[in-house]
Amino acid sequence: MSREITHDATGPEIVGEDDIGEKGDIAICMCGLSADYPFCDGSHNATAEEEDGVRYKYEGDDDENPRHEIAEIVFGDED
Ligand code: FES
Repeated sequence: MSREITHDATGPEIVGEDDIGEKGDIAICMCGLSADYPFCDGSHNATAEEEDGVRYKYEGDDDENPRHEIAEIVFGDED
């Protein structure tokens, strides 16, 4: 499985001591779905039932079904 993630940041996020949580660590989001990016907010739980070989996009206003399967990606510069 893979996931298409839309990012709008144009630079780095500096992580410091103030970002250390109650457990004494910093959890960096690796799934790309966190609303508190770059920090993990538990949104990765939505990826639990992703299937191998399928590409997904998470978006939309439907909080109960934000996951969509991508059938095809077409690039704008393709002829
Ligand atoms: S790893 Fe992305 S929200 Fe936890």
